[in-house]
Amino acid sequence: MSIIEKAFNKAKGQGQITNNPIQVLNEDRNLLNVTGVEKETCIDVSKPSTTSSPNESKMAEIDWVKLAELGFVTPGDSNTQAIEEYRNIKRPLVNNAFGEASSGIDRANLILITSSVPGEGKTFTAINLALSIANERDKKVLLIDADVARPSVSKTLGIQSSPGLIEYLEGQDVEFSDIVLKTNMPGLRIIPAGKQHKHSTELLASNRMVLLAQQLSNRYPDRIVIFDSPPLLAATQGQVLAELVGQVVLVIEAETTPQSMVMESASRLASCDVVFTVLNKAKSTGDAGYYGYGQYAH
Ligand SMILES: Nc1ncnc2c1ncn2[C@@H]1O[C@H](COP(=O)(O)OP(=O)(O)O)[C@@H](O)[C@H]1O
Ligand SMILES: [Mg+2]
Repeated sequence: MSIIEKAFNKAKGQGQITNNPIQVLNEDRNLLNVTGVEKETCIDVSKPSTTSSPNESKMAEIDWVKLAELGFVTPGDSNTQAIEEYRNIKRPLVNNAFGEASSGIDRANLILITSSVPGEGKTFTAINLALSIANERDKKVLLIDADVARPSVSKTLGIQSSPGLIEYLEGQDVEFSDIVLKTNMPGLRIIPAGKQHKHSTELLASNRMVLLAQQLSNRYPDRIVIFDSPPLLAATQGQVLAELVGQVVLVIEAETTPQSMVMESASRLASCDVVFTVLNKAKSTGDAGYYGYGQYAH
């Protein structure tokens, strides 16, 4: 049994989590381990007052060359192993969002990518998942950089910084349409983190954030919304955000993150509907390095 399974089983034993494994892939190589957790809804918020479509106009050019150099799975990539790994990771998430499994999961199209501590691969996973889903012909993805203390989505994608989530949450005449960027990938839009703010924790926990999550779910039921989140154990922001979404992906850095931290993270996610775990950066058996590129290992 892996550390992750032990952690989740222990949390389950303590009554914190109902553990319902969805799938374990490539377990022999420790490639991907996905665990689903079903529980009652996290929060209840009222309906948004407006249903009008935002006027999204600004355009951002993703630097594909830079992204490929950083090891991301870009469109046209021929790394079949990495592509297959992301397919395996996104399939249950997309099924929960749009498939038959979606009934009973509130805000299933909102997905939070988090981890216990910084550096485990949240941004790497969030961007690769967003690209992989948006690369499907009929799928649309909105990627939101909600790791406002250490934002890195814009920088990684090679996009100029611009007003983002924080400015919107401050509410100073910033409309939703002001912060959404179209990209040169037709199915992908981005909301940058925005400026550093000393009260970012309060802003992420504000009513405006709750309303935004509700509106994203109601207005864009046909779109996957991926939040790149702060780590769970560094501050309360990640946990607060986890309660606003329908699905959570807990990224765990293989052979690095201690079991005690994974268990603490699992307990902080105990009230969430669906939690998946992704074991990242695991080494291939008999191979000194990472898995090929995409290298994620799970
Ligand atoms: N599976 C992976 N294979 C190769 N490099 C990775 C992988 N996951 C993360 N990285 C790299 O590790 C570093 C930390 O990852 P990052 O996604 O920025 O972590 P976080 O967002 O959790 O702080 C980055 O340089 C990222 O490109
Ligand atoms: Mg990050």
